[in-house]
Amino acid sequence: MRHKYSDYMHWSKTQSRARFNLATSGVASFPFCELPVDLKELEINGDNSYGYAPLQHAIAAHHGVDPDCVVEAEGTSMANHLAMAAIIEPGDEVLIEHPAYGPILDVAYYLEANVKRFRRAEENGWAIDPDEVRRGVTPNTRLIVITNLHNPTSVLTPEPVLREIGDIARSSGALLLVDEVYLDAVYENTPRTSFPLGPEFVVTSSLTKVYGVSGLRCGWILAQPDLAWKMRRLNDLYSATPVHPGELLSVAAFQHLDLLRERARRIVEADRKLLRDFLKQQSGLCAVETKWGTTAFPRLLNGNGDGFLQRLRAKFDTSMVPGRFFEMPDHFRIGMGVNTEMFAEGLNRISRALATGG
Ligand SMILES: Cc1ncc(COP(=O)(O)O)c(C=O)c1O
Repeated sequence: MRHKYSDYMHWSKTQSRARFNLATSGVASFPFCELPVDLKELEINGDNSYGYAPLQHAIAAHHGVDPDCVVEAEGTSMANHLAMAAIIEPGDEVLIEHPAYGPILDVAYYLEANVKRFRRAEENGWAIDPDEVRRGVTPNTRLIVITNLHNPTSVLTPEPVLREIGDIARSSGALLLVDEVYLDAVYENTPRTSFPLGPEFVVTSSLTKVYGVSGLRCGWILAQPDLAWKMRRLNDLYSATPVHPGELLSVAAFQHLDLLRERARRIVEADRKLLRDFLKQQSGLCAVETKWGTTAFPRLLNGNGDGFLQRLRAKFDTSMVPGRFFEMPDHFRIGMGVNTEMFAEGLNRISRALATGG
């Protein structure tokens, strides 16, 4: 039987919520009433057979790339799926970072890839070591997959390392898929997309995580024009054409992107300050801290992660993402950027839970 589900997505949709919900990865919803749009200009149908030109252009302008390289997709989820499905044949080797965002692995298994892993080591600040990637690549490797920022740790991979991984991919005839859905949560000196670094780069992203408009499902892939076209043709088998009102609202979101981003930034930065102070006081936890991103991935020094999270939920009505979804059960993922009061009280409850049994 082929793999046809995602345990993480199922957990996230059915069990992640609590009164103090720190199991998030995206920022607070941007209120529709604050988006400067004229509802009279909304339409139900439009000319969007293989993408709606104004949206393609808005995405292309955002990244400084050619619109022919832009493929619309429903969120980064569909972008990752389309990108991998267009590239991988059953039995191809796909080299994926560890720890990884679960659904990326699930899609690779669903596509019957031969999944190999390379390690991002906590003792190395979760950075990608290009030698680890080099060791994992074989003549059968078709695709290397990383996230930048890294989910769950929010660690940034700098451009020289991206170039090096790109070289490794190119010299073995593979492509490099970089999921950049969190990259714009680097608020100062935001790195540009890795797509222009070389023809082996394929990039996925969306407005869903950093901008508070997940419901628009505005996602995309950046790929060389021939591969981009293959992805559009493949999408004829999936969602065929996009939801046009969503495309129109996404164009409006692009026109006011700074407004969306700055609103979230205030919350993310306030939460990060609280998290930093919290981590300083916790002798039972250790964590690699970053100056950006919406998530952190602390480790529980003593005790069982799942047991701790169950108690945290049952007694303190607080949730975080269990590390087992990232194949690291001693860890958990904390999400920032939704509501600072809720975040502060959630941290307070985690402290109390740690103080009463770890
Ligand atoms: C690394 C990564 N990629 C893709 C996604 C899916 O995002 P979207 O909501 O855009 O489908 C997520 C969601 O958490 C993610 O963390």
